[in-house]
Amino acid sequence: MPLRLLPMELEDCHEWVRIRSIAYRGPTSTIVHHRRMSDASFAKVVEGQKKEFYEPGTWHWKVVDMDSGEMVAAARWCAQNFSKSDTEIVRSGSDDTDDNEPPYIPPEVNVPALSALLGPLRQAGEEIMGARPYLMLDTLSTLPEHQRRGAGSMILKWGVEKADEMGVEMYLTSSSMARPLYERWGFEVVRELQFDRTPWGGEGVDRHTCMLRKPIKGKAPTDHTRGLFILSNGERDQHGGDPCVCSPGNPQ
Ligand SMILES: CC(C)(COP(=O)(O)OP(=O)(O)OC[C@H]1O[C@@H](n2cnc3c(N)ncnc32)[C@H](O)[C@@H]1OP(=O)(O)O)[C@@H](O)C(=O)NCCC(=O)NCCS
Repeated sequence: MPLRLLPMELEDCHEWVRIRSIAYRGPTSTIVHHRRMSDASFAKVVEGQKKEFYEPGTWHWKVVDMDSGEMVAAARWCAQNFSKSDTEIVRSGSDDTDDNEPPYIPPEVNVPALSALLGPLRQAGEEIMGARPYLMLDTLSTLPEHQRRGAGSMILKWGVEKADEMGVEMYLTSSSMARPLYERWGFEVVRELQFDRTPWGGEGVDRHTCMLRKPIKGKAPTDHTRGLFILSNGERDQHGGDPCVCSPGNPQ
């Protein structure tokens, strides 16, 4: 059952949100959601993802099982702290993003709990990265029955090569489960955070690790700024080369 890394398409957003919601199930997700998400809320979350899909400086990847055709993993890479004014952005598709539009928060979400979870993670990211340009991994998710087959590594490999080519750092917040995987790809721990579930009626703590990877080779980031945004999701040939063959978003 070979896995293949492919660029995500707009139509994959529904499956991407579904995979994410399954992969992130657990005691923290239970706290962050008052109840299971309704179909209507789920559809709105998908719409939100679609609106963001063509944002410049983002790359969406999926991993497909070539025997079944099933999408088994997905993630988004985001370029952070790059100057948009220095770019020529070609937007296409259904890009009607309103930058001032707040992200949709389903009524099933416990907003104070979500803020308590994500607030410190966001703050840590800002403190650690400052204004330096970097590539950020957003919600890498693999369906449980397809984990440990190399799907996550395929998505990571693309990002590592991209960051090295651009000569920029990479930053992410890791779950406990993913930490050994990121360490294998050269990420180093820069800070550890804990989300205490007990004030929210849960048990134990959820450990998150802020991880950084320095570029191994590459040119100065400024040399790549223009190419970075031109080769964003606005153009479908952004990913370049042949696809590889080998191997708290919005949880429901
Ligand atoms: C972390 C995750 C994305 C890895 O995806 P993957 O497709 O299994 O990745 P790979 O097969 O390339 O890497 C496997 C490694 O990841 C870790 N891992 C993956 N699934 C695991 C599981 N169910 N239990 C424990 N460790 C796991 C292990 O370190 C594993 O290496 P090993 O098999 O040699 O021990 C996936 O497990 C997942 O979606 N987890 C839930 C959501 C999550 O934590 N995402 C990361 C957010 S930062």
